[in-house]
Amino acid sequence: MDLMDKLAQSEAYIRSKLGGLKPQIGLILGSGLGEMADSIENPVVIDYHDIPHFPVSTVPGHKGRLVIGELEGKTVLCMQGRFHYYEGYSMDEVVYPIRTMKMLGINSLFLTNAAGCVNTAWKPGDLMLITDHIKLIADNPLRGRNPDALGDRFFDMTQAYDKDLVSIASKAADDLGIEVRKGVYMLFTGPSFETAAEVRFARLAGADAVGMSTVPEAIAASHMRMHTIGISCLTNMAAGILDQPLNHEEVLETGERVKKTFSALVREIIRRWPEEKL
Ligand code: HPA
Repeated sequence: MDLMDKLAQSEAYIRSKLGGLKPQIGLILGSGLGEMADSIENPVVIDYHDIPHFPVSTVPGHKGRLVIGELEGKTVLCMQGRFHYYEGYSMDEVVYPIRTMKMLGINSLFLTNAAGCVNTAWKPGDLMLITDHIKLIADNPLRGRNPDALGDRFFDMTQAYDKDLVSIASKAADDLGIEVRKGVYMLFTGPSFETAAEVRFARLAGADAVGMSTVPEAIAASHMRMHTIGISCLTNMAAGILDQPLNHEEVLETGERVKKTFSALVREIIRRWPEEKL
């Protein structure tokens, strides 16, 4: 089946559950941050399993459902659990939900993730607004025939992370007394964490953080000219910086430690993102 036909079926199914509710902001919650969905008011919850053509999530710590409802005066559609390339999904599958969001009329996308901290001046628990990314791996969600109905064959990536959203986020963080960093996120495929040499390479290349998500989604969103913000919770120093091995528990523990601050920031950005941008 053609991509647009599949998307139309996914869209129709989700709409049939929404009873006229019109989602305005897409929100993807990364490792350990999924709980934020619990603060959504009057939620409509849809399991990924039930949505035609939707992939299904396999990672511990990630749920697999959409939660749609009110947050800070806006209607958000929240993905509790995302799809990662390392799970074996194609890039097309990884970005399928983003395309579904666009079909549902969403033009603003909030991407969150857990990431390894490459910048040695920073520390685990710091939050980073993504200003740009590096995708070294060859694959790209737009490789192959271009879905012309969604966007152009060749498209700009200089606005991939919306400058207005970054500036609103910075101000919001200041006003809330939350310290945030700004930096470059570099995608590695995972699921192995990076080697110490890869982390040195990432730093040399200009990266401040490394992670296994977000970049495909940001690319698909740019293709569809959505406003995107990416926020990383730097859960651990990246490999080789400290004399200790990396593990997923540390990622989850740090996520747990900063989740309140993280959600406060995300909520404040949602609150401040003006109606005319939606
Ligand atoms: N590397 C890649 N992805 C991650 C890391 C890391 O160190 N921490 C959390 N997600």
